[in-house]
Amino acid sequence: MSQLPYPSSPPPYYNNQKTSFAYPSARERWPVIINQGIQDVSRTIDQLTEKKEKPEVIEEGKRIIQHLSTILDDLNQDKKLEPINIEQLIKDIAGPNFSGLSDDEVSKIVSDAKFRDINSYNEDLNQIVLNDPSHSTWQSAAWLFSECLLYRKIALPFQVCNTDFWKQFDIFGYQKKQAFRSSKDGVAELALRYKKLTEQLSELESKIPEEKGKALKVLFQEFVDVSLWGNATDLSLLTNVSLEDIKHLQGEQARRKNEANILVNDTEKAWEAIYTEFNNNNEGGNGARVDIVLDNAGFELYTDLVFGLFLLDSGLINTLVLHPKDIPWFVSDVLPHDVLDLLNDLTDPEFFAHSDKESREALDFVAEKLISYTKNEVGGKKIEIRTSPFWTTQYGYSEIKANVGKGGGAQVWEDLKDSSLVIFKGDLNHRKLLWDLQWDRTTPFTEAIGDLKDSGIRLVTFRTCKGDVVVGLKPGQQEELEQAWKSQHEGSTGREWSYSGKWAVIEYSEGA
Ligand code: F6P
Ligand code: MG
Repeated sequence: MSQLPYPSSPPPYYNNQKTSFAYPSARERWPVIINQGIQDVSRTIDQLTEKKEKPEVIEEGKRIIQHLSTILDDLNQDKKLEPINIEQLIKDIAGPNFSGLSDDEVSKIVSDAKFRDINSYNEDLNQIVLNDPSHSTWQSAAWLFSECLLYRKIALPFQVCNTDFWKQFDIFGYQKKQAFRSSKDGVAELALRYKKLTEQLSELESKIPEEKGKALKVLFQEFVDVSLWGNATDLSLLTNVSLEDIKHLQGEQARRKNEANILVNDTEKAWEAIYTEFNNNNEGGNGARVDIVLDNAGFELYTDLVFGLFLLDSGLINTLVLHPKDIPWFVSDVLPHDVLDLLNDLTDPEFFAHSDKESREALDFVAEKLISYTKNEVGGKKIEIRTSPFWTTQYGYSEIKANVGKGGGAQVWEDLKDSSLVIFKGDLNHRKLLWDLQWDRTTPFTEAIGDLKDSGIRLVTFRTCKGDVVVGLKPGQQEELEQAWKSQHEGSTGREWSYSGKWAVIEYSEGA
């Protein structure tokens, strides 16, 4: 049994592996991400100062910046991973007000459920220092573990602070908003497509079941693609890309161009799973439920919601359950407030300013539909939102298992086992499904997901590849991709293809 917080074989990707995307991530991308966060907090403090906001809010904001700057320094100086001292952090963030906090009050804060994961992060970190000292600094540690730890550390000062203002502050909120605003063209295009879909679905009503089934399958494939490539817009990856460039990654044309780049495509299996449930329902079943373990807010969330609308409107399912994170995560990940914000942004004429009349109507139409499902107003069909602290732990998803799953994995299993199909969106969810280990790329997906294979959870992942870990390729395919990349990119090693975001995989496991 490994003493390390990840399976022992194959080894994980490490931040000091020059050929892995982990290497530039820890040295170039993370510092930019932390700096952007600091700037956004700092700009907010300036605005608060201008508005003559309460001094304690302003002072607390400055102490939060100090904490974020320490994380940045530790990273840049490649310091050893230190356990999180939450009591100390509470004192530091409380600043001079700390004298007013008794030891009991500090312990009460620490015992809150939202800090339950800190002990396990610390325990795992101690194991790494003890058992694998050569991978125990920021720039040498296992990529997945250290990246989760980084975002956990960034979220913490906001969670322990005293003022509601900073408690509710989403450090990546500003960036998410800006990126969504820049997605105007792609958003409008998809809204118009959705309006047309509604007409197509009513035409299908009069068709015989076989014809209807065939047509629904074609539409299913289209909306899977929409949701899959929605993942190409990711703020943690786009640290060098302008907001203007984002729109070229979106829209139908970009999707069509990318179709040949889906390296493993199990869409058909996902369709069969849903369609079988649908037919069972027509024979008196309970109604299918699809879960989406969300990835990014803004455009990607919008594509996921439109995909969900297709499933609900067509009657293929009657329940869509969304699983956002509950702390700011990997920059662009969805928090519950992002879902609400998106609905408001769609209906706000100022947000997507200067939309033509047709687009405006289509945007309102999408929003109304979404709102009515969230209010459970459409003949028993509904959209629900559930969070779990499990999604922001350091654990891979084989911890989603009955009774003993760590970090809340057991509760997540209890929930997901009732789903007809669980869709995992994006790169990080995929890395966690595979524990971010250095699998041979021809390893079957169902082998690499470990215990999840027969956990009773049927799942599919929609992932554009933005990391090293890839499985399920045909023999020779990896070498071909590497060669092709190398010949087109002078000075490259060829390995970059797997984290360029240009390829994708849709991988399925029956769960039984
Ligand atoms: O690979 C770059 C990266 O930032 C990874 O750290 C992370 O897995 C991923 O991108 C985030 O992408 P996504 O939002 O698709 O999970
Ligand atoms: Mg993400």
